[in-house]
Amino acid sequence: MIELFTVNDIEEGKSKGIDLDNFYMFAVKKDNQIHLYWNRCPHLGTPLEWQENDFLDADAELIQCSTHGALFRIDDGHCLAGPCKGKHLQKIPFTEENGMIMIQRDQLVPAPQY
Ligand code: FES
Repeated sequence: MIELFTVNDIEEGKSKGIDLDNFYMFAVKKDNQIHLYWNRCPHLGTPLEWQENDFLDADAELIQCSTHGALFRIDDGHCLAGPCKGKHLQKIPFTEENGMIMIQRDQLVPAPQY
């Protein structure tokens, strides 16, 4: 298992980027739940963030791509609006133990092409 961060590393309603040996992910904490995704927009495959650790829209209700503004639900990554409407961000399964968020090493595979 690879340890990524602890649940206390993200404030409620905030997001966090993770660079693990050039595998780019991000996490959002909402309603005390952690959601973990690959940091690739399903439109063009670009990173999503506006600036470091900033992946959300102004109300912090949705994930928003900084390139063309696509909006995604936080809990399942479904794109509600924008050029990739109907597509999904790719979730990363993780386990949590004593507040530590961890993923399996074999999940680190090259990102899919959109
Ligand atoms: S690259 Fe994300 S909306 Fe176009």
